[in-house]
Amino acid sequence: MKIYINNIEYDANPDETIIQVADRNNIKIPRFCYHKHLSVVASCRMCLVEIEGVKFAQPACSTPIKEDMRISTKSSKTKEAQKSTMEFLLINHPLDCPICDQAGECELQDVSLKHGDDHSKYLEFKRVVVDKDISPLISTEMTRCIHCSRCVRFGEEVAGNKELGLINRGEFTEIRAFIEDGVSSELSGNMIDLCPVGALNNKLYSYKARTWDLKQHPIISPHDCIGSNIFYHVYNNEIVRAIPKENSDINQTWLSDRDRFGYQGIYSKDRCYVSKHRKNKTLERVDSQDIIKKVNNAINSSLDKNTSSKIGSFISAQSTSEEMFLFQNLLRKLGIKNIDHRTNERDFDYQDTYPLMPSLGCNINDLSEYDNIILIGVNIKTEYPILTVRLNESVKQDTKIYSYHYFNMDEDFPVEKKFVMNNTDLLSLFQEHTLESCRNKKNLLVIGPNITYFSNQSVFLQALDKFAKNINSQIGYLTDFCNSTSGWILGNVPHRTIGGVKLDNPGLNATEMLENDLSTLIFYNLDPENDFHNSSALINSLQKSECNIFFTSYLTPIIEKYADYIVPISTYAESDGSFINIEGRFQSFNKVITPNSNVIDGWRALNELNILNNHQAYTIESIRSELSSTLSKIDFTSKILIDKKKYELDKSTKVHKNSLRHIYSTDQIVRRAKSLNETIQANNKSVYVSRDIFDDSENKKILKVVENNRVFKIDNFQIRDDLPSRTIVYSSSFNNKFTESKSTFVSLKK
Ligand code: SF4
Ligand code: FES
Repeated sequence: MKIYINNIEYDANPDETIIQVADRNNIKIPRFCYHKHLSVVASCRMCLVEIEGVKFAQPACSTPIKEDMRISTKSSKTKEAQKSTMEFLLINHPLDCPICDQAGECELQDVSLKHGDDHSKYLEFKRVVVDKDISPLISTEMTRCIHCSRCVRFGEEVAGNKELGLINRGEFTEIRAFIEDGVSSELSGNMIDLCPVGALNNKLYSYKARTWDLKQHPIISPHDCIGSNIFYHVYNNEIVRAIPKENSDINQTWLSDRDRFGYQGIYSKDRCYVSKHRKNKTLERVDSQDIIKKVNNAINSSLDKNTSSKIGSFISAQSTSEEMFLFQNLLRKLGIKNIDHRTNERDFDYQDTYPLMPSLGCNINDLSEYDNIILIGVNIKTEYPILTVRLNESVKQDTKIYSYHYFNMDEDFPVEKKFVMNNTDLLSLFQEHTLESCRNKKNLLVIGPNITYFSNQSVFLQALDKFAKNINSQIGYLTDFCNSTSGWILGNVPHRTIGGVKLDNPGLNATEMLENDLSTLIFYNLDPENDFHNSSALINSLQKSECNIFFTSYLTPIIEKYADYIVPISTYAESDGSFINIEGRFQSFNKVITPNSNVIDGWRALNELNILNNHQAYTIESIRSELSSTLSKIDFTSKILIDKKKYELDKSTKVHKNSLRHIYSTDQIVRRAKSLNETIQANNKSVYVSRDIFDDSENKKILKVVENNRVFKIDNFQIRDDLPSRTIVYSSSFNNKFTESKSTFVSLKK
């Protein structure tokens, strides 16, 4: 179809509106209420344009095109219509641009400059709207609101959680939160971007800088395996805010609050800025030039004294691919095979038959092509908020979503059916289950990280494999960290080297390393307090080992107490790096800010150790080209044999103790992001107990739980009637440690 805009011919699709054709061809039409990812309401009238043969100017956002339509975006009729709209919008808008955070990027300011008048006829008092404190993340100046309703439609249509609404009419129209202090969506920050004026503002950025003084740097989210694209805005070498970098394949134009505000953790008070070495039982400061040499001497003298099998090494899967490549490269060249990134797991029997790396099994863009998506042990709303947008889109295209979990949790998209059962019942169900509604359909079964914490993970994965076959479903994974994919494919596991090549003599896995009285332990980018399945076992190992080496960005109490060497390393934003997302996308980024001068670039520290041991020296480019060539040679479609091992089912009547991944405690950085941890969602720090456990207990005030022969008393529990029988669930937040392991069987003491 052909249409003419300003007398130039353009191709157009029959189902397009005028604004869509104009946008595609870079023809500017002012707008406030229109947004390409929201429904069209045509309420602001800013996009009025003249159409030949039509008496009055028409809204470009809602007017469908017709063959040979002739539109003018520059005619005097168009200009007059837009000028009048602007005059009305400015009647009540305050003239506080000099102190408005939106200044410099305000759509109203820009449109007013181009389409407004130079004086106002309005001599009455402007209206004032009283502000409400709606969130620790968003500040409001509601007098500036122009009632475009983008924020309202976002909640309803994209986030699936309508928390703001328009109340009253005409002069008295207001945007209000339904609950006074209650914007709690995990995607709430997107309303700040959508607001065309300075009514909804980023609280962390308030009065920090003027927008024209900011430097913009692209980066990839370090908080989940989706790999959202972000722009960090930097002022005086400090990240002052984050906004989405549009990527239609991943995060579109949205960001989760975790990705938007998580950077605050970089500026935590417990950042580690000093290299240290323990001498005569006290940690002493070491020159940052010398610490790498000292660490190298410590590793090599340990290799001289013991065998390499007495050295254990752990790396966080939040580390970059470059760090993971160099970490295993260094250790394997030194003959050390005890390497693992799966520190939150307990049961590794499954590892030989696991795919080369965990993967979603499809592209994020293709999720809506499935008839059924079956979620296993995962809460998308809190664990992968950005996927809520995609699942809402999928449901609109008739995908049905099912959920199996040991805890009843809300989602912000419609769930066809929820199955809430304890681990043992879920396991029995999967052995025989056939979800009839999914038969002969296109199905995707998505396994979440909570399953990986299970002390019987292997038997669970085997049962899920059987379930998937029963309903002819593809299997996909969502992982614990942003770069667990690299953990697997780059050989940071004890049984496979880089590229997933199988080792004949595997090293010890994360649990075995803590149970085998090793003489030297190396930790890279991990919080001992939170990033291990069993922190008691970890402390026990730290006490027994002769040498504990920590490469860390944070100085935690356990590190301070047990470290023999501390190397202060950069965070993700302070170094060049890459992450491989759950679709297998390799995304690189450059350093955004320069850290304290004592902090060492993580990959450079590992490279230096390689050089000291006469191994190949790398540059960031040479690592990336080696990674690209490794990844290009891998056949990700190769099927792994199905695990034929027979696992014993635990039929005991013990109590199931499970943790829930706390929304803002999932990784080192975000658990230190103060404002996120002040949100309503972050307050979930309770221990939940099923009704039958409470009824059986003699003491109604204190429950005594026995785990690994130790007795733990819980006095701050809540009884949940919707919790499956024989179940205790706790939220694994930064400061809520409950007993020893993340998921296990416990018994109760009378
Ligand atoms: S608060 Fe902003 S986004 Fe919401 S209606 Fe007002 S101007 Fe529009
Ligand atoms: S943008 Fe078209 S009416 Fe608001």
